[in-house]
This record gives sequence, structure tokens and C-alpha cells, in this order.
Amino acid sequence: MAYRNLETSNRGAVRTIVVNRPDKLNALNRETLNELTLAFAQAAQDDAVRVVVLTGAGEKAFVAGADIAEMHGYAPVQAQAFSRTGQRLMSSIERLGKPVIARIQGFALGGGMELAMACHLRVASEKAKFGQPEINLGLIPGFGGTQRLLRLAGRGAALELCLTGAVIHAQRAFELGLVTRLVAAEALDEAVNALADQLAAAAPLAAAGILDAVLQGGETALDQGLEFETQGFALAFSTDDMREGTAAFLEKRKAEFKGC
Ligand code: COA
Repeated sequence: MAYRNLETSNRGAVRTIVVNRPDKLNALNRETLNELTLAFAQAAQDDAVRVVVLTGAGEKAFVAGADIAEMHGYAPVQAQAFSRTGQRLMSSIERLGKPVIARIQGFALGGGMELAMACHLRVASEKAKFGQPEINLGLIPGFGGTQRLLRLAGRGAALELCLTGAVIHAQRAFELGLVTRLVAAEALDEAVNALADQLAAAAPLAAAGILDAVLQGGETALDQGLEFETQGFALAFSTDDMREGTAAFLEKRKAEFKGC
């Protein structure tokens, strides 16, 4: 499938999706949001894909936000639809059922930071920069930023970043728990590829169970989360991969997971 604003490629079981508007620092216009929604739906449906890597084209930006030029003329009802489209995309990434890694090399601002926060893991270059600068535009985040930042980094950091619109360095984002792995710029691809390969070789149904338990558990009381975990744990015993993984351990060999 050909996209106007994305590039996709496969490396083994790893699908890479690149937001490709480098002349606009990969800003998210409506068309790009729609294409991303389609690209993630395709990745979800394709059994050959076990991991998705999401990044932006060029060195300068992961994604520098929602497209300000497009938003400038919106009426409130269009803004509402834009926010909902963005939020649905972010939720679909979060609930993909396969690990999604954000590869962040430059600016991840506004909608770019929201996109990164919807991914499960964020690997960032030391040169990356993060922020929710919407307040400088007289706006508030609209693609889940207030909510995911709150959940990832806590109320203090969410209010500090959203109220000041400050752009922070990757090191600070790492300290706040926004970046899960921080690497030198020249080591970014190697780090992302190694992590993606490791996750691609892992048992896919176990990965899906972990994603479900952590994401659902984050929104429930502890008792409900623990019950959810028990159900997922029990379900894993219905899979060939669980028999293979435990047998491989006992036979002192490497497991071959098939996703069934
Ligand atoms: N929406 C639309 N266009 C954007 C954009 C965005 N969020 N971010 C960057 N661009 C465009 C610029 O308008 C410019 O286009 P032009 O060459 O046609 O004028 C191009 O991308 C390059 O950006 P520029 O601002 O010239 O680069 P810079 O190096 O001087 O600054 C940033 C980089 C990221 C600091 C700056 O682009 C910026 O502040 N972007 C907006 C960030 C933001 O507020 N995001 C939240 C949006 S809700």
C-alpha cells in the first residue's frame, strides 16, 4: 500500500513505519493521522509482524507536533474531530497487541510527544528533545498528552511540562521515565534494531498478555489488575509457545516460538 506521508518497510518480523514529511518536521496533519491509523491496523492484522518501530524521517525531528498550519483555520467542531482522530490513533497504537517501539532522534513535541507516549517503549538519542508546547499556541494537548503524561510521569511533571510548554532534553525525559532507553545518537539504530529483534523473537501471545495486563492494570484497582493478570497467566497455559518455552528450558536449548 502506498502512502503519501509515510514509508513502511519490513525487516524479518519487524515492521518500521516512518512519518515522512521532513520539510514540515513530520508534523501530523489529518491525512498523516489517517495514514498512520491504516498502517497500524495493517500491522495489527499481519501475523508476520511481531514488533512495530515508529519513527520520523530525517535527523531533525521524530514528529514536531500536530500540523499548526492546518489547525489554524479549524472551527471548534473540526478541532473536536481532529482531537478524536488523534486520540483514537494513539489508543489503537497502545492497544495494538504487539510491542511498538518509538525511535526518537530529534524533536518530539506536542502531538509528537503524544505519539511517542502511546508507544510501549521509547528509545531516544541523547539529542532528542521533548515537550508539550501547546500552551504557547493558546492550546492544550489534544491527542492524549495530558492523560498519558500524567500516567507516565505523574501529576507534577505533567503540570510542569504542559503549563510551561518547556522543551526538555532527552536526559531529563529519561529521568522522568518518558524515555525507556537513552543512547548516543550514533548508537540509536543499533539499539532500536537490537531491541526490536529481541522482542520479535519473544513469544507473541505472552507479549500480548503482558501488554494487556500492564495497560489494563494501569487503569484499575490493584485487586482487579491482579485478577486480570491471573486470567492472562492461566490463558498462557493453553498455548503451544508455553509448552515450547518451558520444554526448551528443561532441555537446555533455545525456544522457537510460533505465536500459537
Ligand atoms: N506544524 C506545522 N508545521 C511545522 C510544525 C508543526 N507543528 N513544526 C515545524 N513545522 C514546519 C515549519 O513551519 C517550517 O516550515 P516552512 O519551512 O514551510 O516554514 C518547517 O517545519 C521547519 O521548521 P522551523 O520552525 O523552520 O525549524 P526550526 O529548526 O527553526 O525550529 C522547532 C524547530 C521544532 C523548534 C519549531 O519548528 C517549532 O517550534 N515547531 C512547532 C512545535 C509545536 O508547537 N508543536 C506543537 C504543535 S500542537
